[in-house]
This record gives sequence, structure tokens and C-alpha cells, in this order.
Amino acid sequence: MTEYQRIVLAARPRGAVQPENFRLETATLPALQDGEVLVRNHFLSLDPYMRGRMSEAKSYATAQALDETMLGGTAGEVLASKHARFAAGDHVVGMLGWAEMGVCDGALLRKVDTSRIPLSAYLGVVGMPGMTAWYGLNHIMKPVAGNTILVSAASGAVGSAVGQLAKLQGCRVVGIAGGAEKCAYVIDELGFDACVDYKAGNLAADLARAAPDGIDALFENVGGPCFDAALPLMNAFGRIALCGLIAGYNGDDLAVRNLRFMLTSRLSVRGFIVTEHLDLWPQGLAELAALVAGGKLKYRETVAQGLAAAPDAFIGLLQGRNFGKQLVQLIP
Ligand SMILES: NC(=O)c1ccc[n+]([C@@H]2O[C@H](COP(=O)([O-])OP(=O)(O)OC[C@H]3O[C@@H](n4cnc5c(N)ncnc54)[C@H](OP(=O)(O)O)[C@@H]3O)[C@@H](O)[C@H]2O)c1
Repeated sequence: MTEYQRIVLAARPRGAVQPENFRLETATLPALQDGEVLVRNHFLSLDPYMRGRMSEAKSYATAQALDETMLGGTAGEVLASKHARFAAGDHVVGMLGWAEMGVCDGALLRKVDTSRIPLSAYLGVVGMPGMTAWYGLNHIMKPVAGNTILVSAASGAVGSAVGQLAKLQGCRVVGIAGGAEKCAYVIDELGFDACVDYKAGNLAADLARAAPDGIDALFENVGGPCFDAALPLMNAFGRIALCGLIAGYNGDDLAVRNLRFMLTSRLSVRGFIVTEHLDLWPQGLAELAALVAGGKLKYRETVAQGLAAAPDAFIGLLQGRNFGKQLVQLIP
């Protein structure tokens, strides 16, 4: 009988997530059955969607159960396998949740090659967030060279990839991010043409200056004032990939004052959930992996240390304390 540590959902949040919503506890591993794999997690992925799963409000996915392991993506190493495709020592990504280790059906794991790409990147730029950027850009925004595109939460896991992929397609790319340091990174390191600090107090005017020819396609990660400021700048027949509304995940009001521009600029708006397009993942992940291995797609990580640090890191993610992909490292 092997014991391990995990974090469970102890109580559903009301408004902002609090440390009391989580509980660290010891659990016992089940015996390995045929077709199953025992994995030790090296990294946990913390993602904004987890806030939605903590709540019972109507959504595209069912709420996660109370007193169960917080769900989430993981990257780790196979310790033991009763599945033909996996052997001890393989690096795998899966959905083992906020736990040091776990047993799962091998069909739910993906083996990854860490010879050219670090294991952690498979939870970010070469994982779900990278695919989100790739899908929204190529299948909804469909930019052509010379277009101006705008992306909010531009320094984050998804936004940073959107902007770099659009630059590779010859677009002019404008980002929105919180604070001077994140904006400088977005321009200087990621190569965006401009980045507006939404916390500086002049969002509408700064955005208009950064996009003098208007915006042809918008990748919306935030909602609220950022989205509202972008709408009047959208060019006729502009496309909006509605990816996330993180400004409202803790319950803040996301009123849209500039809704009329959706009509007068004849905009196309499409929400999407990246996990509903799994057929495209092999293509997208292969392209992202090649770009990362070739040094053409950069990424940044904020790494919290140890399982017990996960709740605070998650609370920080919803407040913009992370800088790039938020991870928790379990094995130093
Ligand atoms: N549709 C899908 O399938 C799908 C899949 C993955 C992710 N998403 C969505 O994509 C978005 C980005 O996810 P991510 O994983 O890349 O996270 P991330 O950008 O790495 O981290 C979240 C960032 O959001 C920004 N933020 C938080 N609260 C904000 C607020 N009130 N106003 C403005 N910005 C705020 C913060 O950056 P600043 O410091 O710049 O404010 C924070 O760093 C989220 O909305 C997420 O839900 C959707």
C-alpha cells in the first residue's frame, strides 16, 4: 500500500478563491489493474478553467466533485505499467490532478519526447494552452499577412503563443497585459509590435494609438474593460475568437458597453473549447513542437515549488501574479 499526498476541493468558492477551498490530505494508491499505469507527477498545470470547475454554475463541463482530487493536467514519469504502450521511465502527460502520483488508464496518457523539449513545456506551449492559441488563431481568426491582430492576457500561456504565431504569419500584433514589466517582455522578448498596459489608466486611448489602422481579428482572453476597449477599434467584418473571460471568473461583472460595434462593424464572434477539437491536436502539437525545438516559439514559466504551494499559486493566477505558464513542480 503506497500513500501519497493530494489536494482536494474542500468547499466551493463564493467570489474570489480562498485557501480554505482546498485541503491537503494523504490518500492510498489502488492496486494496478491490467491496462493501467502508475505515474509520479513532476509538474502540475494550473489553468484558469479550474475556477469554473470548482463552481456548480451552468457551463460546458460538469463541476468537479467535492472532496475529490482537484482535476488538472500533469506531466510525469511512469513508475509501473500494466499497459502495452508504456514502460517504467517513460515521460507522460495526463490528467492526474493535484497529486504527487496516481494510477490511470493508459489510454488517457500521452507519451512525450523530452530530448528536445523540456517536460514542463508539454503542459504549456506544446500542450493545451498552445493548442488553444493555435486553434483560435488558425480556425477562427484566420489572419492574412498584413492584418492587425489584438490579444489580451498577452504575456500568458495562451496569449504569448497567439501573438508569436500571428507574427510568423506576417501580421501586425498588439497585446494587452497588466503592468510595464509584462508589456516590455511581450514586445522585447516575444516580438509583438506593441503592448498596452491595461492597468495604466488610459486603455481606450492607448489601444487606439497602438492600433492606428484598427483591428482585423481579436483573440479575447479576458473580457470586461479589455474587451470593451477593443470593440470600437474592430474593422468591418472583423473576427473575434472568444477564448476566455478571466476578468469575470471570480464573479466580477463583465458588462459590455460597446456592444453596438458588433453590429455596426458586422463582427463574427465565436466561442470555442479547445478540448472539443481533439482531432486537430496531433497536427497542432506537431507544429508547435517544431517551432519550440527550432527556437521560433518562446515561452515563460512561473513555477511554484511543492504540492502545498498549489492553492496559493492558483489564487495568484486569477490575480495576474503569474508571468507566463503557471506550473507547480513536485520533483526538484
Ligand atoms: N477556450 C478554451 O478552450 C481555453 C483553453 C485554455 C485557456 N482558455 C482561457 O484563456 C485565457 C488565458 O489562459 P492562460 O492559461 O493563458 O492563463 P495566463 O494568461 O497564463 O494567466 C492568466 C492571466 O490573465 C490575466 N488576468 C487575470 N485577471 C485579469 C483581469 N481581471 N483583467 C485582465 N487580465 C487578467 C493575468 O495577466 P495580466 O497580469 O496581464 O493581467 C494573468 O496572468 C483564460 O481566460 C482561459 O480561461 C480558454
